[in-house]
Amino acid sequence: GKVCLAYSGGLDTSIILAWLLEEGYEVICFMADVGQEEDFAAAEKKALAIGATKYVLIDVRKEFVDELCYPAVQTNAIYENVYLLGTSLARPVIARAQIQVAEENGCFAVSHGCTGKGNDQVRFELAFYALKPDVEVIAPWRDPEFIKKFQGRNDLLAYAAEKGIPVSQTQAKPWSTDENLAHISFEAGILEDPDTTPPKDMWKLTVDPTDAPDTPEDFTIVFEKGIPTKLIYEDNKEVSESVELFLTANKIARRNGVGRVDIVENRFIGIKSRGCYETPGLTILRTAHIDLEGLVLDREVRALRDQFVTPAFSRILYNGVYFSPECDFVRAMIAPSQISVNGQVRVRAYKGSLTILGRSSETEKLYDATEASMDELTDFDATATSGFIAVQAIRIKKYGQAKIARGEA
Ligand code: ARG
Ligand code: SIN
Repeated sequence: GKVCLAYSGGLDTSIILAWLLEEGYEVICFMADVGQEEDFAAAEKKALAIGATKYVLIDVRKEFVDELCYPAVQTNAIYENVYLLGTSLARPVIARAQIQVAEENGCFAVSHGCTGKGNDQVRFELAFYALKPDVEVIAPWRDPEFIKKFQGRNDLLAYAAEKGIPVSQTQAKPWSTDENLAHISFEAGILEDPDTTPPKDMWKLTVDPTDAPDTPEDFTIVFEKGIPTKLIYEDNKEVSESVELFLTANKIARRNGVGRVDIVENRFIGIKSRGCYETPGLTILRTAHIDLEGLVLDREVRALRDQFVTPAFSRILYNGVYFSPECDFVRAMIAPSQISVNGQVRVRAYKGSLTILGRSSETEKLYDATEASMDELTDFDATATSGFIAVQAIRIKKYGQAKIARGEA
């Protein structure tokens, strides 16, 4: 039968390809373009040389930005207060394209090179089963025979030599990465010691903040319904198309060293893991979006969204259940929460930091400078506030009295 393998061109998935062939399968190699830096032509050549029947590359960048990255901006999505979910965000569009390729090529199974300890295996496989419930999944890194055969990197290299698989000359990096147009992750290897500071040359998508220009860079982001619709930079340059806008935000963040984080996070399966991430453009867009919400979003809508939608959507993405009833439900709440999020934010990037310079909205008038002013009384009946405080104080006074009665005050 035919198997559709998510191929990366690297050592692991090349070994998996050769192993699947040896097991008697016919293999269609699938690759998604999610904006990673990659020599797709070289990957194709390698896959076909090893023995794949076909190599299929699908460009999913636009849907990645529109369907995943922008909703992440709209919800201010974040995992454990630090991680902007760059890898998690790309998985749904990659899995969907892989199932499409599997179906178009009559594959009964799909395969991937995720390890048996991580989040990605869960994300891919739950997406596969949601989109094609009858699909079979071949996960070599959880296959007893496969893991017995390949116990370490030397076994992989020996098998590569035996099968004539070219191994790139460059010494393997002492960490593992996952890259797309929203981010790059660095995990494992020397980073497994959480007290090891990442070496300066590890970082890839941003300049070191200490090496960034001494002159700050100012730009403006326009939002409509919480979606970035225009980025104005370098005084008068403008960009609107979603992928272009995202890539431009990446460039601004990159040259100013914006978007690096380092976290020890809790994986879905229960293991703690250290990860370093660069999320340049998304950091800018999210920061500006949060600021604009302060100006235009109703207090209670915001509180409910922060309490329910943001954490739920973030956890759903991290745990890999984008294609699920709970995600359909949570996603349906995003648009209504963003009806009023229209306006623009002026931002300054400088040596790794972002500063808000100002914000405005033509249409949303929740903020009233006269009403908020400390210098004007006008319409607001300040004497009414005495009653407001008196009523709020009923409960608070009882709390104070009880404490005194218990001798705790
Ligand atoms: N820890 C991050 C996450 O779970 C990054 C995972 C990176 N995946 C990879 N195959 N290198 O989203
Ligand atoms: C992997 O295990 O394949 C990468 C890390 C992860 O998925 O969390």
